[in-house]
Amino acid sequence: QLMGQLLGMREKEKQLASYLEIEQCVIISGDIDDQPKLREEIGRAAMEALNFLLPEGDNIIAVMGGTTMAEVANQMNETLSRKRKLLFVPARGGLGESLNIQANSITSLMAQRTGGENRVLYVPEQVSEETYKPLLQEPGIKKTLKLVNDANCVLFGIGDAKLMAERRGMNEDVLALIKNKAAVGEAFGEFYDQSGEVVYKIPRIGMQSKNLANIASVIAVAGGKSKAKAIEAYMKKAPGHTWLITDEGAANEILTGI
Ligand code: BG6
Repeated sequence: QLMGQLLGMREKEKQLASYLEIEQCVIISGDIDDQPKLREEIGRAAMEALNFLLPEGDNIIAVMGGTTMAEVANQMNETLSRKRKLLFVPARGGLGESLNIQANSITSLMAQRTGGENRVLYVPEQVSEETYKPLLQEPGIKKTLKLVNDANCVLFGIGDAKLMAERRGMNEDVLALIKNKAAVGEAFGEFYDQSGEVVYKIPRIGMQSKNLANIASVIAVAGGKSKAKAIEAYMKKAPGHTWLITDEGAANEILTGI
C-alpha cells in the first residue's frame, strides 16, 4: 500500500509540474497549514533537491528570507558540502522582515550547518529610494552584489500578497495599491497578480525575478493550501527550469482547480 501511495505521489508531482510548466515538483504528503511539524519535511525535501542539483566544486547560492527558508536552513547539514565549496549570499537587500527570518540570518545559519561560507548584505530598510541608490556604489555592497549576480543557484519562498504586505508593515498606500491591482502573491519583494504580472516591487537592491533565466538551479519552496493561489500565479511567468518543493495542501488545491 505504501508503494502505491508513493507511486501516486510521483504521478501527482509529474502532473503538477506539467500543469505549471516547470521542470520538477516535489510534493510532501499533508498540509503544513494544518500540521506545522511538516515544515521540517519541506525543508528536508529542499535540502535533497539541492544535493541532487548542485554541481561539484564551487557553488554560490543566493537565498531569500521567510519562515520556509529558515526551515530549509535548519534541515541542512555537512553532506551538502561533500565535494562542494558552498557560499551562501542573501539574494536581496532587507525587505522588512524580523531578524531571524531575514536572508542575512538564514544564509549565516546555512553556512554554519554545512560548513560553508556566507556574505552579508546590510542595507537599511526604512529609507527612501533616493537614500538607497548611492549605497550601490559602496565597495562592500558592490562585492556582495557581484556574488549574487554570479550565483548558480537561487532558493526562495513564495508568499500570499496580503499576508506578506502586512507582515512587513508596508504603508497604507502600498497596501491599497496591492489590493486595487489584485495582487495574489509575492516573491523576491515583487507583488504579482493572478496572471503572474508584477504590479508592485519593493525598491531594494539584489536579485529580481527577471534575473532567474540565467541561473542554473532555481528552487522555489512553498507549501500549504493557503499559498496555492500565490504559487500557481507565480509559476505563470517562472522560467521553465524552475523546481518547486511543496506539499499536498497546495498541490491538491492547484490541481482541483484545473
Ligand atoms: C520573504 C521573502 O522573506 O518570505 C518573500 O522575501 C517570500 O519573497 C516570503 O514570499 C515567504 O515567507 P514564508 O514565511 O511564508 O516562508
